Amino acid sequence: MVQDEQWATDLAAIEEQALQALAKISDESDLQAWRTLHLGRSSAVMQTFTRLGQAPKEQRPALGQAANRVKQALESALALREQALGQAELERSLSSERLDVTLPGRQPHLGRLHIATQTLREIYRVFAEMGFQVYRSREVETDAFNFELLNIPAYHPARDMWDTFHTTTPGVVLRTHTSPGQIHAMREFAPEPVRVILPGMCYRYEQSSVRHEIQFNQVEVLAVGRGITFGDLKGTLQEFARRLFGQNVRTRLRPSYFPFTEPSAEMDVECFVCGGAGCQICKGSGWLEILGCGMVHPLVLQNGGYDPAVYSGFAAGMGPERMTILRYRIEDIRNFWGNDVRFLEQF
Ligand code: PHE
Repeated sequence: MVQDEQWATDLAAIEEQALQALAKISDESDLQAWRTLHLGRSSAVMQTFTRLGQAPKEQRPALGQAANRVKQALESALALREQALGQAELERSLSSERLDVTLPGRQPHLGRLHIATQTLREIYRVFAEMGFQVYRSREVETDAFNFELLNIPAYHPARDMWDTFHTTTPGVVLRTHTSPGQIHAMREFAPEPVRVILPGMCYRYEQSSVRHEIQFNQVEVLAVGRGITFGDLKGTLQEFARRLFGQNVRTRLRPSYFPFTEPSAEMDVECFVCGGAGCQICKGSGWLEILGCGMVHPLVLQNGGYDPAVYSGFAAGMGPERMTILRYRIEDIRNFWGNDVRFLEQF
């Protein structure tokens, strides 16, 4: 009995001491330290359980229960204290960190599509409506694809039309136009019909100036199948111009020359700056040239894997930057790749 009482007073002292210490705690880290000290493995309450084995056997259940009660009392006191501290912290931050919802917000800096990309996407949209798929082809080409297979033999004077960047590997060039993609596309699809546009960067070895840049985009158009005529070429390109520039825009075809098309033509649209009256942009002619085109040359069809006696096709090539320049009256083509935000932000 005596021993029993001793245990009871010990436990009461343990509890009281712990609760007193807890009452003084006002921050989270002290709370953790308290938990270790008063409820951890080597705390006084927990040691009581270890010492239980030394008590007489018949007293052990009662002692165990008493120790358990103290342990639970400390645990719930801790939980209460934790909650109270959390609440106090919340109130403190609510009163000190007030949010002024009337302040004007900070405008995030919005990025946007490059003007060349915007024009390209418009072109994709119009051709997609007419059933043309986008076909991508390489920017580094062999001489064969860029010239030979397009009916431009070595030393042919027509090579002067394309000032070429040659790589250090003989016979490998940066494509000077998107036309080599015609051969890649035909070889992939032959003998099925083809209806694709081929967009992408082209390179020419030029002195860059207000009107000339060493790199620029082109969009190639190619349709191959049975019975395709010049009428299809004209109808498709005319409809393209209408959908891009407006339903009432007038177009005209002028005879031209490209080694890979026969016959060849260039298409003009009515000057959208002056409406055809004649101005500085159209140099008084009332017309703006927007693309080169023609019926795919029989040799080119053959190189693409089609029998020219059975199949025919038309092709066209346009410069989206040139079209953008005309549309927005951009004075210097070098702005496109100059990466000056003052230019880019205007669109
Ligand atoms: N590849 C020609 C150029 O770069 C454009 C073109 C493409 C002309 C297809 C006719 C047919 O000038």
